[in-house]
Amino acid sequence: MIVDRPARRAHPRLLGLLGGALLASAAAAATLIACQDTSSGDGAGGGAQGGAAGPGFRPEGCAFSIASREEYSDFQHGRTEVGATPNLRRVRLGLGGNVAPGAPGHADPSTSIGVAWQSDDGTLVSQVAWGTTPDPASWPAANLAEGVTWLTPAGTLNSSGDERMHEAYVCGLEPGTTYYYRVGGGPAGKAVWSDVYAFATTPSDPEAPVTLAVSGDSRGQQQDAWRLLQRQIMKAGAAIQLFSGDMINFAPDQAEWEKWLDLGWKDADGTLLATGQLLTLSAHGNHDNHTSLFFGNLVLPQDLAKYPKYAELFFSVDVGPVHVVVVDDAFIVSPSGDAEYQPALAGWLEADLSAAQANRAKVPWIVTMHHHPEYSSSTHGKDADVLRGRAFFGPIWDKHHVDLALAGHDHDYERSKPLTGPVDAPTVKPSSKDGTTYLVCAGAGADAYASSTSSFTATSRDYKSGSALGFYSLLKATKGKLTIESHELRADGSDPVFDAIDLVK
Ligand SMILES: [Fe+2]
Repeated sequence: MIVDRPARRAHPRLLGLLGGALLASAAAAATLIACQDTSSGDGAGGGAQGGAAGPGFRPEGCAFSIASREEYSDFQHGRTEVGATPNLRRVRLGLGGNVAPGAPGHADPSTSIGVAWQSDDGTLVSQVAWGTTPDPASWPAANLAEGVTWLTPAGTLNSSGDERMHEAYVCGLEPGTTYYYRVGGGPAGKAVWSDVYAFATTPSDPEAPVTLAVSGDSRGQQQDAWRLLQRQIMKAGAAIQLFSGDMINFAPDQAEWEKWLDLGWKDADGTLLATGQLLTLSAHGNHDNHTSLFFGNLVLPQDLAKYPKYAELFFSVDVGPVHVVVVDDAFIVSPSGDAEYQPALAGWLEADLSAAQANRAKVPWIVTMHHHPEYSSSTHGKDADVLRGRAFFGPIWDKHHVDLALAGHDHDYERSKPLTGPVDAPTVKPSSKDGTTYLVCAGAGADAYASSTSSFTATSRDYKSGSALGFYSLLKATKGKLTIESHELRADGSDPVFDAIDLVK
């Protein structure tokens, strides 16, 4: 098992990591080296972090683009071939979009959706079709969007080699509306389609109450806690799912990603679970390691116009009365990884949060999420990287009066009192009106850490003993109140509430 450590740079820079303690064989290393030379058919170049490459592909009807990455191969769109055994699988929702405040095509889950899936290598057609009834025969012929396909790099530790991936995007949807969709496509008479899935766009009306599900750290997939969580949040009526990173233990292993995707996609009896029907927005964790498999298995906003080097690493969305900011903190807690990231992120956060502040009368709540916690009394609470993250993010959240800062990394639960002022000696405020609440909520499959308390702690809890396998929270937001309702995950399917608090304006 790998212990938590600072995130490394993207594949193929993983060679250093793999060549050390973790790579099992010289043959595997040779395969990894060989796959550095794979190049996209559509894009070119790429950022210093193995970032998005080239002009990419603009989905029809969308005001944003997506691109290949330098690690992918055979990046294509507009193909129609259906393979011998398409086996369309691991269908999951995500989101595209730009990230600059006010930019055309800004990421918006009330009007758009992204969807990803896998197939056999011979299936190149990448289409999504949709409608507002469950019967595809009733869907308008125009409701058909072309996506892209590529091969993940061979040479990971996945013994099955490269994997055929697909992504497609739909824009121009109506807010707060249930849609049905399926993926696949192909020539008349040979088309192959997935099951029909349902999802709902988020409301655009800030007066509409919404529920956001929150969890983190599924790595290890112990006792199927991730699948258990996906069952629970389907019942909870969440508008979106927020995940604070560390999906898997060992990022170069596609088999780990596929286990994670499989557990979230369907239940053991075939019942469709959350990932194909509920938008999941994730932050990058240190175990996700900036591998091409993180970027390839997830569908997250990527702003090719403004931040081509940092595709899928930071973005924001409005969900009803909540402005949600999702950030990769790897090069903040380990700044030697990329010295350019910190000023780029600081500039984007200043612009995004200033705009969100100016929009408070309409969208009153600001919730942030990244992986390493600012305030924790558990295993990693005093780690140097965690404290570097606190020194960077704390003053920014304080300046912009962020209401709730979400994180994981420590596999327990800890809610802070409302905090403001210097990060190393914050002032505890009696009301959430006057300070930021910091919430560590992790335990979606990871091994349990011991919880503890500090002067800033309101409540903490672990799952080292007792009936809980982990934790998740529901953020129930209206314009005047944001309720944090936190649940145990239990194997018997019960999920008792153990902490509930209202943040008020
Ligand atoms: Fe972590």
